[in-house]
Amino acid sequence: MGKYFEINNLVLDFKTIDGDFRALNIDHLDIDNGESFGIVGESGAGKTVLALTILGLLPPTAVRIRSGEILLEGTDLLKLGKKELMNIRGKKIAMIFQDPMSSLNPVFTIGRQMEDVIRCHRKISRANARAEAIKAIETVRLPDAESCLGKYPHQLSGGQRQRIVIALALSCKADFLIADEPTRNLDVTIQAGILKLIDELRKELGITVLYISNNFSLASVVCSRIAVLRKGSIVECGAREEIIGHPQDEYTKLLLKVGE
Ligand SMILES: Nc1ncnc2c1ncn2[C@@H]1O[C@H](COP(=O)(O)OP(=O)(O)OP(=O)(O)O)[C@@H](O)[C@H]1O
Ligand SMILES: [Mg+2]
Repeated sequence: MGKYFEINNLVLDFKTIDGDFRALNIDHLDIDNGESFGIVGESGAGKTVLALTILGLLPPTAVRIRSGEILLEGTDLLKLGKKELMNIRGKKIAMIFQDPMSSLNPVFTIGRQMEDVIRCHRKISRANARAEAIKAIETVRLPDAESCLGKYPHQLSGGQRQRIVIALALSCKADFLIADEPTRNLDVTIQAGILKLIDELRKELGITVLYISNNFSLASVVCSRIAVLRKGSIVECGAREEIIGHPQDEYTKLLLKVGE
């Protein structure tokens, strides 16, 4: 039996006017079912590019995948067609994007957006979708779910908005959650609450989490294992305590120092 999630020999180039730019070169990475795995690297290391590659969201006109496989429960995501990928996104893999402020549409109420997302993936009535949306809001510990549905994104705080984004991501029962710096634009006090929520939901719902950050202290709150990404390659990977307590690679040491 293979791993829940696995990347092997992935090499990805961006096509640019100056020629190819190697954005990813990952020999191997694997994640267990139910694990919370972290990828840490500085800005520009390729973290978001990796997340978008897993989801098949990079335009084929912009990138060239030279080699590799991305296996989710044995299925190579790189070999899937558009329709199959659409099915996997949301239903199987959900993503929380880097900027919670831009993940929600400002002109629609939270209720409308949640119902639309739920109905996009499942054939259910608007009334049932509303009931599901209320359940999802309760799951992310927001009080008064009913009144939340009637609000517009700007009527919520940054932390509340990010909870809604998490509720949206999980409303279609995906079991692999990719969280790309989910707390980047939030106050430090709010960050801790969101990370705690992600970890609680992982245990409660039995989902697997790929958590992406440029910050070791944030990653160590939620991740049991961490891989360090530098210029698209993994320079070091291991248990959280090992990476943070006894880093082997010079780059990891430097990153840890900067974060102190
Ligand atoms: N469409 C594109 N064309 C060419 N290069 C790109 C494109 N998108 C991203 N890149 C390059 O790929 C590299 C990785 O970018 P990426 O957005 O994955 O970084 P990141 O690790 O997520 O950084 P951050 O912490 O700032 O979010 C960068 O050098 C970036 O300039
Ligand atoms: Mg990024």
